[in-house]
This record gives sequence, structure tokens and C-alpha cells, in this order.
Amino acid sequence: MAAAPAYYVTTPIYYVNDVPHIGHMYTTLACDVLARFKRLDGFNVKFLTGTDEHGQKVDKAARAAGLEPKVFTDKVSENFRALARLMNFSNDDFIRTTEERHLRSCQALWRTLLANDQIYLGSYAGWYAVRDEAFYAESELTTTPGGEKLAPSGAPVEWVEEPSYFFRLSRWQEPLLRLYADNPDFVLPRSRLNEVVSFVRGGLQDLSVSRTTFQWGIPVPDDPAHVMYVWLDALTNYITAIGYPDTDTEDFRTFWPADVHMVGKDILRFHAVYWPAFLMAAGLAPPKRVFAHGWWTVEGQKMSKSLGNAIDPLHLIESYGRDQVRYVMLREVPFGNDGDFSHESVVARINGDLANDYGNLVQRVLSMVAKNCGGVVPSPADRTGDDAALLELCHRLITTVRQAMDRQAFHEGLDALWAVIRAANGYVDRQAPWALRKSDPARMGTVLYVLMEAIRHLAIVTQPFMPEAAGRILDQLAVGPAVRDFAHLGQDHALVAGTPVPTPRGVFPRHEVEAAGQGTA
Ligand code: MSP
Repeated sequence: MAAAPAYYVTTPIYYVNDVPHIGHMYTTLACDVLARFKRLDGFNVKFLTGTDEHGQKVDKAARAAGLEPKVFTDKVSENFRALARLMNFSNDDFIRTTEERHLRSCQALWRTLLANDQIYLGSYAGWYAVRDEAFYAESELTTTPGGEKLAPSGAPVEWVEEPSYFFRLSRWQEPLLRLYADNPDFVLPRSRLNEVVSFVRGGLQDLSVSRTTFQWGIPVPDDPAHVMYVWLDALTNYITAIGYPDTDTEDFRTFWPADVHMVGKDILRFHAVYWPAFLMAAGLAPPKRVFAHGWWTVEGQKMSKSLGNAIDPLHLIESYGRDQVRYVMLREVPFGNDGDFSHESVVARINGDLANDYGNLVQRVLSMVAKNCGGVVPSPADRTGDDAALLELCHRLITTVRQAMDRQAFHEGLDALWAVIRAANGYVDRQAPWALRKSDPARMGTVLYVLMEAIRHLAIVTQPFMPEAAGRILDQLAVGPAVRDFAHLGQDHALVAGTPVPTPRGVFPRHEVEAAGQGTA
């Protein structure tokens, strides 16, 4: 048998200066859904997440907490691991930049860049924003009425003057522009690619890649007065996790270049400009795609610690349920756009899409089967055009969803699922199987069989989005764990008449509005 095709998807690694909120959860959730989808679609998947633990920002946060950076990062990194468990994330690895494997990888990359004449020693004098861990040109800054200088992100900047190594980014303008031209999907959504292209066209300056005014970082090989710039350190995590500098290993050969680096729009420049330049300069292939998603605001406001409106994922899950939160976040906003989180819209989705549309379909079909078919899969008799039409929609579903997922268009995948759910509900109403019980029991059996098949397709394809709920639906159809992947869609693997099915239990409860509105931390 041919080896399964590989799929490597990564989240950004999270700064450990703060507790996780729904913004962090969102990026990892998107990757989790992709990873689960690809596994069910027969791919050999590696899904990586982790924490970004070096640099001035984390150093400052540790000091503010009165802890040594390593003690502090051990503690905060654990919160991100806990979030992954809480959300049922299926990451295959969790990398920390303070690990030995990463030190070795970064130092090897540095040495290669140096050997390739891509790094030289100079001195930096310019603006730096600790919050963004980024250098800015004077021309990018704005000045507040109070005279404070701000980066485009709104982060305050400080003047920095120190000896520094530089990466010859200026040499990479043409190769980067070629990379974008040859791979128009290198950055998605397209509008974001345009931003990247115009930034690179505007000219690239060599990039400062070491700091000397603090110690919390990876020492520059043979010059320990310098620590590596935290973004060079952090980006390297994507190759550390597959064994860099050992590029001749199976893991590295299988998974590099990565299929998707998922990032928020705020960190696109680092991933779509600096990272491919570092890689090409080290003789490595750039990743296949960087997808930049949008930002969440909360009830119309930017989320921040100082506003006290950062939403704690734990709270959210306790209020609404894990699969419900997973669903709403990917359904509410076209992936790539900004979105506003409101409790009202969460409740509307839970009660409308999940309880009324999906839940009701499953509940009414399975309870009719329990009541009227002796709790076994009924026998399908002759099929009508209406039956065939619904089944045809089901058989086409995976193709539509697959195309959407290959563009990270989660909302389109969910739209396609809901189109089938609505079609199935329409079919129930038209066929009115409850009325056939006395008049035509054989026809009732056929209608319920067709509906169970529709539900089987829906549940198999919803697994990446709502793994637990979909699993419970498949349990209720007596579809075993070995036949839940996409290779088992289609009529060759259809339900077998006479198979006993368990007593149905509701999967998508309604959310009582009185209990809502408590989700903020
Ligand atoms: N440490 C860097 C990434 C290094 S990757 C080599 C970093 N960390 S972060 O913790 O600040 O942000 C991680 C991710 O969370 C980013 O993709 C960012 O866009 C995302 N989000 C943080 N707040 C967010 C929202 N309010 N909404 C959506 N995503 C947001 O950047």
C-alpha cells in the first residue's frame, strides 16, 4: 500500500506572558479541526502547538510576577497545555522554546546562516516595541498628543541602541516576490497576500536578529553576550519539532515543508516574510501556506487584560459546552475575517443551528426508529426520487467540505453540512413518516432508513468540528469506531438493516437564556 500522504499543520506558539483567552483558543481550534479532518481523510498528520517562552516581554512578565523566568514559564506554559486538554485538541506534539531540542535546533540554524554569509555583526539603533517583540522604522510610527510614539499595532515603542547581528533580509526581496508570484495561495486570504507583497515591494532592510540588553533567550553560538531575536528563535520551532537539524530523518522528509502555518493577521509579516527568507537563506524550502485569520472583539470591544473582558475558555465551556463553543466560533465568522463575540449570538446558534436543526433531526428520526422499528435499522424497500435526491446530496457532501477545508474555509464546510441538515429536515416534513406507521409501514421503514443514512453521513463529516457530539450520534447509529473515517462514507458502507441501535438520547440540548451571559472572566 502507498504511504499515506503527509499533512503538517502548526499553530503559532503562544507567549507565556498571559493566561490563554479565546483568541488563542481560536487559532488552535482551527488547526485541530483541520488536523482531525485530514486524519479522517487518510492523511498522516502532524499537528504542532506550543509556547514561545523567551524574549523581553516574557522576561518582564516573569519579573513582574517576582519569579525567575524559567519558573514563571514552566507555570504559564502549563496553562496552555491545560487549554489543549480542556478543548479536546488533538495536537501530536507540544513544543516549548526552552527545551533542549530547540536550543540545539536554533543554534544549528544560526550556524548555517552564518556559514552562508546571511548574518553579520553590526549595531542597531532604532525603535523596538516589546509588546510586539518587533523593530519599527521611524516612518511606521505615529505620535500621540502626549508625545508618545506608537507602533502600527498601538504598542508603545522604545529607543534601542546596542551591538547586534543582522540577517541580510535585503537580499531576499526578489526571491520572496517570486515565491508569492509562483504560489498565489502561499498566503490566504488573498487580500492578505496583497498586503505582504506591497510590504516587500516597498523594500526590505536587514533585520536585527540578536539582543544584548537582556539574557532571557537562546545564546548566539560563540558570542554569548548576544541572545537570539525572539522571533528567529520562535519561528524555528516549526522545524525543531520535526527533528531539525537532522534533516535526513523520516520525520523531516515527511513533514517539511509544512502544509499550513495558521496565524493571526497580526503576526503575518513574521511568517510570510521573515520566515521564508530565513529558510531559503539556510537552504530549506519555505512552507506551503500561511493562513492569516482575523481577530475577535468581545461585545464590540478589543479584548484585553486591562479592560477585564478577555474571555476565559473554561468559563465559556462550562456555560455552553465544548462542542458548542467549537461550532459557534467557526460558524459565526467567515474564517479570515474579524469577528465579534457576543453571548447572544452563541445562544442563538446553539438553539437554532444545533438544537433545532441538527439535534431535532437526529432526535426525531432515532426516536421513531426506537418506537416503530423495534430499535433496529429498518429495511429499505423501493426508493423514490425524493429518497435518491437526499442520498445523492449526502454522497456529494464530503467533496464540497473537502474543497472548503483545503482553503481553510471552515464556515463554508459548515454551510455545506447545514444545507444537508436542512434538506433532511425538509424530507422528514414531506414524507411524514409518523403518518405512514399504520398506512404503509414498509414505506415508513424506507424513509427512516434513508434518514439514518443521511444522519450517518452528517455525523461522520461533523466529527472534526464537534468530535464528541458526532461520536455520540454515531454510537446511537451503532456505527463502530473503525468505520467512522471518510473512506467509509458512501453507499458501499451503508447501514445494515436489522442492526440493533441503542436507545436514543438527545445530543444538542437547548440553552436556557436565563443562565447565559456569565461567560466573561
Ligand atoms: N509568540 C507569538 C507567535 C510566535 S509563532 C512562531 C505570538 N503569540 S501570542 O500569544 O501573542 O499570539 C498567538 C496567536 O493568538 C496569534 O495568532 C494571535 O493572532 C492570536 N490571538 C491573540 N488574540 C487574539 C484575538 N483577540 N482574536 C483572534 N486571535 C488572537 O504572537
